[in-house]
Amino acid sequence: MIRIAQADITTLSVDAIVNAANQRMFGGGGVDGAIHRAAGPELFEACLKVPEVRSGVRCPTGEARITPGFKLPAKFVIHTVGPVYRDGRHGEPELLAACYRNSLALAAENGCKSIAFPCISTGVYGYPIEDAARISVDTMRAFLSGRDSARPEMEVIFCCFSERDKQVYDNLMKTESP
Ligand code: APR
Repeated sequence: MIRIAQADITTLSVDAIVNAANQRMFGGGGVDGAIHRAAGPELFEACLKVPEVRSGVRCPTGEARITPGFKLPAKFVIHTVGPVYRDGRHGEPELLAACYRNSLALAAENGCKSIAFPCISTGVYGYPIEDAARISVDTMRAFLSGRDSARPEMEVIFCCFSERDKQVYDNLMKTESP
């Protein structure tokens, strides 16, 4: 099931919230900063324990890593790194889709039945919301229909921060029902 919400993702009582992180997993601004503030300093400690795959990179773009949620209502934080948008012709759509797919797969592996996503890459990383929203919805529908995996029972929330982003998602859900 897919739901669209307008909320601060740190307030949601779901099994997992997704963080739009950076490759170092060092925290940052935007939703990353909000999640670290709400989870408390243990989240930063847990991020540092994630092994580096190469110097300065704990989570390559398009991949996902999981930590506990600590002080958050959510049990887990799934950290994923979206692509920095250039012009959409440098692999950004595939990398963004991989963020959603890999986060969902990691949630399923950890027994999560509900997950909330922010609009990955659409802030500091500059991905146009209309394109990013379409990719996220398409990827989610493929996952929930079982085409990508056998875990269709997950509740997925697209957690929009702004009213405008919510409108984009609402329109997309109306015009393209499964
Ligand atoms: N709850 C939900 N969504 C939020 C919240 C929040 N509390 N705060 C911000 N957002 C939304 C933004 O409005 C935007 O739509 O999250 C979306 C993603 O924006 P960013 O957080 O800027 O993420 P991104 O574009 O993926 O850039 C990631 O920014 O903070 C750094 O460390 C992070 O380097 C990484 C980069």
